[in-house]
Amino acid sequence: MIERAAGLKARYVNRVEKKFMDMKVGLFEKPRELNVKLGEGAYRDVYRYNEFAVKKSKPHVIRKILFVRIRVPSSLYTLLRFAIWDLNDYEYKQYRSIISKTPADLHQCFAKVYEPIKDGKTRYSINQLVTDDDGQVSKTLFEYGGINDKQFWNMVDDLEKLFLDKKIYYLSIGPHNVCVNQQADGRLIPVLVDYKRIGVRTFWHQLLLYIPYFIRLKMRRRFQRMRQHVRAGRVPDIIESSSLQVVD
Ligand SMILES: Nc1ncnc2c1ncn2[C@@H]1O[C@H](COP(=O)(O)OP(=O)(O)O)[C@@H](O)[C@H]1O
Ligand SMILES: [Mg+2]
Repeated sequence: MIERAAGLKARYVNRVEKKFMDMKVGLFEKPRELNVKLGEGAYRDVYRYNEFAVKKSKPHVIRKILFVRIRVPSSLYTLLRFAIWDLNDYEYKQYRSIISKTPADLHQCFAKVYEPIKDGKTRYSINQLVTDDDGQVSKTLFEYGGINDKQFWNMVDDLEKLFLDKKIYYLSIGPHNVCVNQQADGRLIPVLVDYKRIGVRTFWHQLLLYIPYFIRLKMRRRFQRMRQHVRAGRVPDIIESSSLQVVD
């Protein structure tokens, strides 16, 4: 029985690996097929590619300083802002590290991240596409609006507890970075899709955060802000009033 389960698991892993390889080849041969846009953040455009979410780095990040819009090359910007040159590589490592510390029952709350790909200056992060039971791409919490589902919020609590216990400082928590995944039995599962802002390094210029008490507090506040506003069916003011309309 155990052997059979191990065989099945190996076959499954191989199938996923094969799909990943096909996807890599396809991406290089037909990059134009990246035409179904799922969303965007400040740094990347996200496309659907079969059962993957492919995040393509934007060449520039646009920021407003006083009233002037400036274009900064993405790598330079992430280096200055997060002390990270290659965001995709950082995310991939963070994801693997988190998963290694996470109990199996919570693995479903993390969209898988595969090894990133580079093509010249363009960088692609390859992720599991989060889809609902009916095959539709899951909405983010931001798009979903309010959620009044005890189980869903209990899982959010479990994630926060996990991060605090294991000293994982997941500061990317927010309604744009959590998908609401609808299961066949109607359950709603929070699934994290962004692993950029993890650890004090990504706030390297905020010296107080080097003291564990403060970085924990910051993370807890972000969780709290998300709960208070989204649970009640509103999105945080900070996002509504953002002049850029995109967030980390
Ligand atoms: N794995 C995924 N499955 C489905 N949608 C996703 C996935 N990853 C990202 N998205 C969508 O793309 C948007 C931006 O992705 P994100 O990784 O947060 O980009 P950025 O790093 O620029 O913030 C998300 O808000 C969400 O709408
Ligand atoms: Mg994001």
